[in-house]
Amino acid sequence: MRRAIYPGSFDPITNGHLDIIQRGCKLFDEIIIAVLINPEKTAFFSVAERCEILRAVMKDIDHGECTLAVESFAGLLIQYAADRQAHAIVRGIRAISDYEYELQMALMNRRLQPQLETVFMMPAEAYSYVSSRLVKEVFHLGGTIEGLVPRLVEERMRSKSKDQKTKS
Ligand code: PNS
Repeated sequence: MRRAIYPGSFDPITNGHLDIIQRGCKLFDEIIIAVLINPEKTAFFSVAERCEILRAVMKDIDHGECTLAVESFAGLLIQYAADRQAHAIVRGIRAISDYEYELQMALMNRRLQPQLETVFMMPAEAYSYVSSRLVKEVFHLGGTIEGLVPRLVEERMRSKSKDQKTKS
């Protein structure tokens, strides 16, 4: 039973993240998509909203024999992975620019927990420029994010920003 953790902010989940999850499903029996609780970072969606969206989106994807779970976590990733008895951390690498940061994290995690492997996966080229940060920027400036995120995310972003505008 090979269990992996796919950690991240997922604010929001993009089609690039989904692509990585689907590829990961071919390698692992179970993937836990783990949303970091990070009070220092201002997020568009709360952790609870992100988990709810992720769970809804996971229902629609082809996960083959792989079991998918969504959880949130706080603190050290290696500790959380040990608590869940995970064998690997999955991270997506889009371009060389991601590599430096990801390598640093992977090596630090390996130093802290040599048993735990980090597996880097590449999304389809079509998503190589897609990031949650750019999706939010384009959305806030009125551009289309169709095809970059699941339809549910688009809808939830629209309704959330409408609510925020009504309140202010
Ligand atoms: O989607 P992100 O924001 O790039 O994900 C970053 C994440 C959650 C993988 C990273 O910040 C993380 O693992 N945080 C947990 C705290 C931790 O273990 N820090 C040491 C990492 S070397």
